[in-house]
Amino acid sequence: MTTLSSRPDSGVSVGLDVPHESAALHVTGAAVYTDDLVQRTHGILHAHPVCSTHAHARVRGLRPEPAYDVPGVVRVLTAADVPGVNDAGVKHDEPLFPDEVMFHGHAVCWVLGESLEAARRGAAAVEVDYEPLPAIVTVAEAIAAESFQGGQPTVVRGDVEAALAGAAHVFSGDIDFAGQEHFYLETHCSLALVDEAGQVFVQSSTQHPTETQEIVAHVLGLDSHEVTVQCLRMGGGFGGKEMQPHGFAAIAALGSRLTGRPVRLRLSRQQDMTMSGKRHGFDARWRVGFDEAGLLVALDATLTSDGGWSLDLSEPVLARALCHVDNAYWLPDVRINGRIARTHKTSQTAFRGFGGPQGMLVIEDILGRCAPLLGIEARELRRRNFYADDQETPYGQPVRHASRITAAWDQLVDSADIAAREAEVASYNASHEHTKRGLALTPVKFGISFNFTAFNQAGALVHVYKDGSVLINHGGTEMGQGLHTKMIQVAATALGVPLARVRLAPTRTDKVPNTSATAASSGADLNGAAIKNACEQITARLHEVDAGRGLPWEEVVREAYFSRVQLWAAGFYKTEGLHWDSSLMRGHPFKYFAYGVAAAEMEVDGFTGAYRTRRVDIVHDVGDSLSPLVDLGQIEGGFVQGAGWLTLEDLRWDSSSGPGRGRLTTQAASTYKLPSFSEMPEVFNVSLLEEAHEDGVVYGSKAVGEPPLMLAFAVREALREACAAFAPEPGFSVDLASPATPEAVFWAVQAARTGAPAPVTEGAPGVEPDQPSSDAPALHPHSEQVASRVPGNPVTGHEARP
Ligand code: MTE
Ligand code: MOS
Repeated sequence: MTTLSSRPDSGVSVGLDVPHESAALHVTGAAVYTDDLVQRTHGILHAHPVCSTHAHARVRGLRPEPAYDVPGVVRVLTAADVPGVNDAGVKHDEPLFPDEVMFHGHAVCWVLGESLEAARRGAAAVEVDYEPLPAIVTVAEAIAAESFQGGQPTVVRGDVEAALAGAAHVFSGDIDFAGQEHFYLETHCSLALVDEAGQVFVQSSTQHPTETQEIVAHVLGLDSHEVTVQCLRMGGGFGGKEMQPHGFAAIAALGSRLTGRPVRLRLSRQQDMTMSGKRHGFDARWRVGFDEAGLLVALDATLTSDGGWSLDLSEPVLARALCHVDNAYWLPDVRINGRIARTHKTSQTAFRGFGGPQGMLVIEDILGRCAPLLGIEARELRRRNFYADDQETPYGQPVRHASRITAAWDQLVDSADIAAREAEVASYNASHEHTKRGLALTPVKFGISFNFTAFNQAGALVHVYKDGSVLINHGGTEMGQGLHTKMIQVAATALGVPLARVRLAPTRTDKVPNTSATAASSGADLNGAAIKNACEQITARLHEVDAGRGLPWEEVVREAYFSRVQLWAAGFYKTEGLHWDSSLMRGHPFKYFAYGVAAAEMEVDGFTGAYRTRRVDIVHDVGDSLSPLVDLGQIEGGFVQGAGWLTLEDLRWDSSSGPGRGRLTTQAASTYKLPSFSEMPEVFNVSLLEEAHEDGVVYGSKAVGEPPLMLAFAVREALREACAAFAPEPGFSVDLASPATPEAVFWAVQAARTGAPAPVTEGAPGVEPDQPSSDAPALHPHSEQVASRVPGNPVTGHEARP
């Protein structure tokens, strides 16, 4: 066992069931978020955007003058005010003040007012002349127009054409599935101040304070040491605050710099939904080969993500999607192409799972649709195809501990009484004509680490004061996920002091510099190891002071001070053994994989498509948990958020040719349905995989933030099973839209009722729709085509229909 992962024999605070460190503050409303600072700040100005009313247009003229006639308007910020670089992105493709608007709601300029109302009225008074340009709204339109951005990577292993030619069964199909709105409770918010020496201080709801600092500095034409960013805590980030806060922070900082007053920018819910990026929806087309026994032999797929107007994090999100198409399954010969559509929409971005869920949806959809055509139960088909220990992923990384998938699966089959319940479901379905049930199990394998190796580093600062109390600071941000709770537990364990002796100070760029985003679920792995490193430097020094006397903590600390021994330390950690070649899409990008298995039982009403979740059972692998209550919350929350993505949350953009083209039509909680109490499973059992110690990770734990989201595929697959039960004959292959809203389920039930068999065609279309047909690889003579879209089913994805 490595020293990083081993736990001491006594004084161990990791692994204790402690509540979130701010739980009491959260539930009493006393927890302070960035916007709460407004009441404590004197002389503040409020920022309001002037938003584009076109999805794509050239800005021919901008007249801010009328805004100054509005009482309370102090300043209109435009491109002419930018002292540095007029760009809010790291890819330099996101002008902060654009002369070409790229989506409906794009901010053209910003108005500062004595009150938010004054700023709003001022923004309404600004006159903008637009020259409308053609807009691409759907991925299908982008593919047709060849509107792509960024690289087009491919993961390849073996000879996919030969493998498909030799396969006993070949199927092809496609799916176009929706993105997701983050809907963090706290919308984007920044508050900026400039002090008498010109030092800029920005408080921001950001998952990536260092990058916020860098963007603010380059917009203002300053060096990084002139800008400090602090994040107190976030009311949720979910990836939506990894890159999107920077521009808002830069506007607040610019306003403060120009007026000398504090500037607050907080988006309303509607502004947040229309202006900020979301999870990428994808279009996927595939051909898959199976052998006689139902083992996967080949997969050829093209994934096109909907990147929106700028690149943002679309490239790494796509890379992670390509690296997760395999999920838990051994795919001998593969070719997975990826590309990013450029559309006139918000710039889609990180969202819990970061492309992983989108990649995994493709293979889970394939297995769910092909199982009936192969005549194999979906549960059996999945299990048969699991990785064996140390088989390699398509990108060349051995799958360590793959047998944990099978172990968790078998444990769940047992603990959730699956065999008996399958029989119950069958008899229920036989005796109920208008409601049907489905039960499904799905696995998760999720790679932990940033694909980009350099990001896998972290720093921490640990102070021990003369009285023995401890203050820690680290590079990670708290967004509700319990990172700070875990970090306090790690410090207390490493120093051998009670939890109550340790306090944690908010994340600031002047405490720990050059941090990575708190993302990729790696916050605890990276920052925990850095804190442990700092603590160990201190305990090594104290050990010498103590010289075998076994003094109590407070005494040895006092003595160390009087002996002039340094009582604080900066810690550092970098993950060893990672390498990734992004041009070849090969390497060993992940430190390890997190595993999980879920079983869901759903009941569908055939008249309406309405459904309910009768029971969910989960076994999830968190290694040796650092904080079991926190982990439980992450698993439950991630699962429900995933179920929301797959079944309820239906982003719709106006794709008509009318004047509202490109407008997000679901821009409030009234039209965008989120999971709530009524969607919670009636029975919800979550357990942690036992004997799951992870060597080489801080105190033997595993990351937990994102992987549980993907456990929700069990819900979607159970809905598919329930829909299939409406078919007159067994073995019906159900094509289910994603999100599987009640409307989509209704149409899937209609298709099943008519029992229309999946059309079997030879020479099905190639994976590349825009490829000349002469180049299209000929399919195996026995190829079968999975029904693409059921005729008469108007649910064709997530775009609003005119
Ligand atoms: N949990 C809560 N409550 N709120 C959040 O915003 N974000 C998720 C996950 N869990 C999130 C959350 C995402 S997208 C990530 S990457 C991880 O937390 C980040 O934190 P970690 O690295 O500390 O797990
Ligand atoms: Mo999480 S999507 O990596 O912020």
